[in-house]
Amino acid sequence: MKPSSGLPSGRLIPWQGLLLTASLLTFWNPPTSAQLTVETMPSIVAEDSNVLLLVHNLPENLRLYRWYKGANIFKSHRIAVYETSTQAVRPGSAYSGRETIYPNGSLLLQNVRQEDMGLYTLITVNTSRQTQQASGQVQVYPMLPKPSITSNNSNPVEGQDSVELMCEPEIQNTTYLWWRNGQKFLGSNRLRLSKGNTALTLLRVTRNDTGPYECGTWNPLSANQSDPVTLNILYGPDTPLILPTDSYFRSGTNLSLSCHAVSKPPAKFTWLFNGRILRSTQQFVIPKISARNTGYYTCLVHNFATHLSGTIVKNITVFASVLIFWNPPITAQVTIEAVPFDATEGKDVLLLVHNLPGNISGYDWFKGKIVYNRPAIATYLIEPQITLPGPAYSHRETVYPNGSLLIQKVTQKDAGVYTLLIVHTDFLTQKASGQFHVHRPYDECCPSLLQTIQPSHCGQRSGAQDLQEQHIPQSVSGEGWC
Ligand SMILES: *[C@@H]1O[C@H](CO)[C@@H](O)[C@H](O)[C@H]1NC(C)=O
Ligand SMILES: *[C@@H]1O[C@H](CO)[C@@H](O)[C@H](O)[C@H]1NC(C)=O
Ligand SMILES: *[C@@H]1O[C@H](CO)[C@@H](O)[C@H](O)[C@H]1NC(C)=O
Ligand SMILES: *[C@@H]1O[C@H](CO)[C@@H](O)[C@H](O)[C@H]1NC(C)=O
Ligand SMILES: *[C@@H]1O[C@H](CO)[C@@H](O)[C@H](O)[C@H]1NC(C)=O
Ligand SMILES: *[C@@H]1O[C@H](CO)[C@@H](O)[C@H](O)[C@H]1NC(C)=O
Ligand SMILES: *[C@@H]1O[C@H](CO)[C@@H](O)[C@H](O)[C@H]1NC(C)=O
Ligand SMILES: *[C@@H]1O[C@H](CO)[C@@H](O)[C@H](O)[C@H]1NC(C)=O
Ligand SMILES: *[C@@H]1O[C@H](CO)[C@@H](O)[C@H](O)[C@H]1NC(C)=O
Ligand SMILES: *[C@@H]1O[C@H](CO)[C@@H](O)[C@H](O)[C@H]1NC(C)=O
Repeated sequence: MKPSSGLPSGRLIPWQGLLLTASLLTFWNPPTSAQLTVETMPSIVAEDSNVLLLVHNLPENLRLYRWYKGANIFKSHRIAVYETSTQAVRPGSAYSGRETIYPNGSLLLQNVRQEDMGLYTLITVNTSRQTQQASGQVQVYPMLPKPSITSNNSNPVEGQDSVELMCEPEIQNTTYLWWRNGQKFLGSNRLRLSKGNTALTLLRVTRNDTGPYECGTWNPLSANQSDPVTLNILYGPDTPLILPTDSYFRSGTNLSLSCHAVSKPPAKFTWLFNGRILRSTQQFVIPKISARNTGYYTCLVHNFATHLSGTIVKNITVFASVLIFWNPPITAQVTIEAVPFDATEGKDVLLLVHNLPGNISGYDWFKGKIVYNRPAIATYLIEPQITLPGPAYSHRETVYPNGSLLIQKVTQKDAGVYTLLIVHTDFLTQKASGQFHVHRPYDECCPSLLQTIQPSHCGQRSGAQDLQEQHIPQSVSGEGWC
């Protein structure tokens, strides 16, 4: 008895087509008629677990049935034959020892492997030697382990190196996905996916390619994801910057310069003064600078990993406002006029400079008459046209190019003499002074005297110029009567 050889091949063809179509369905639909069918339980099976090929509507009066691996009824693909009369199972050439046939026709596959994947076909033969055939699809996938990312260059240099990231391990029938900065990766000019998406190539990396990168694996049974990986991309130094950005420094102060450059790893710094090495630190301080410290300060930065360098030069001028005092000030027709001379507290005063000479290099404003060793309010340099606030600057003063000084929101403390020191291009200096008074607003001042005295004199020290002086009561005349 050789039922398989007695099977006419001509009858097989329509069946095969039908069964192959049915096997593509991942789930099983109960047939409307009592037709022989095979259901796979579960439809997708994990590697090393079991799958049952359940037979529905097994025909009656069966003589035997056979299970085959694949869609074709080849003897070499036969797993086993079951004989109904004897209930005997005879293994075939495709029997692996992991299959079990049950009397109801079902086939159990144990500890399935990738190679067990595919179609399984059942042939039934009844006592009238009539056959029926049905197939079931077994899909075997591994439970995906956690993948990991490896890089073929742990310290790539920006603009020079290309990096290949690998998502490992490489597993058959697995979909590989990549994320960068948490976003699903799509190819671009400098990024390329290859080797079944297990490899991501970054062409000539930039610092923006740092990541993090993640790779994911997927199959119909499971999914897994790697830990994020960040690339240690070396770059820089970028163009350095010297702080502070000022170019003019007052003589006698401490000059503190620092150099900054974006670089990975951090850059090494070297300072040059007029082309000679000064320091090998990022920052330095020269105490009590003088005109000798005027010159070119170069900051040189070097990245020992990328072998790249950068430089920046700063032209620093140390200006002297006190140093020039060995030149006795000359007298000239420069005059200072305070507008108003008699200011109300909280209002502004402008110290107007008349007859400012030409050929000057700058000037300093001071509070008081004696300026030697006094802190300046501000210094104005004609050449770069800049105002440099001095130690006595209160943020309320403005120096104009014509020399005039505006003091805003004056207080009683601001009253008094102000001196302008003019520095000529030949270093001769010249002085001019002016003064103003400050009084409180009238309504706060001496309310009982308001009817007897002129408001404009309230708060002033007694002066010789006032005609109304005679109206001031004897008891309150003189200095500081208010
Ligand atoms: C056939 O027998 C097996 C083992 O006893 C059982 O698990 C399975 O459910 C049965 N199939 C049907 C269709 O009853
Ligand atoms: C064998 O199967 C055929 C068709 O599948 C059917 O017509 C016939 O009656 C069956 N024979 C027996 C003894 O059941
Ligand atoms: C990923 O794989 C690891 C073992 O490599 C496993 O412990 C973990 O459960 C898996 N994660 C998922 C989401 O399947
Ligand atoms: C890493 O892989 C990229 C792309 O294949 C290649 O261009 C580069 O030379 C490799 N780097 C190293 C250090 O092997
Ligand atoms: C699984 O991988 C094997 C080998 O690469 C291939 O022959 C088979 O068609 C794949 N199966 C699926 C469902 O992709
Ligand atoms: C990095 O990205 C920033 C912002 O998108 C961009 O301005 C810069 O030019 C990029 N740098 C490089 C080296 O590509
Ligand atoms: C200048 O530096 C000296 C030490 O070199 C220090 O004693 C002094 O306080 C500094 N002056 C200022 C204004 O920082
Ligand atoms: C540097 O500063 C000095 C003094 O302000 C000036 O004379 C010189 O022209 C400057 N040099 C450059 C290159 O700007
Ligand atoms: C400035 O000095 C130069 C030469 O020292 C002289 O020729 C010029 O007339 C002077 N200008 C003024 C405005 O004094
Ligand atoms: C100087 O400039 C200020 C501000 O522009 C102006 O108010 C003032 O009148 C000027 N002084 C002279 C003397 O021209």
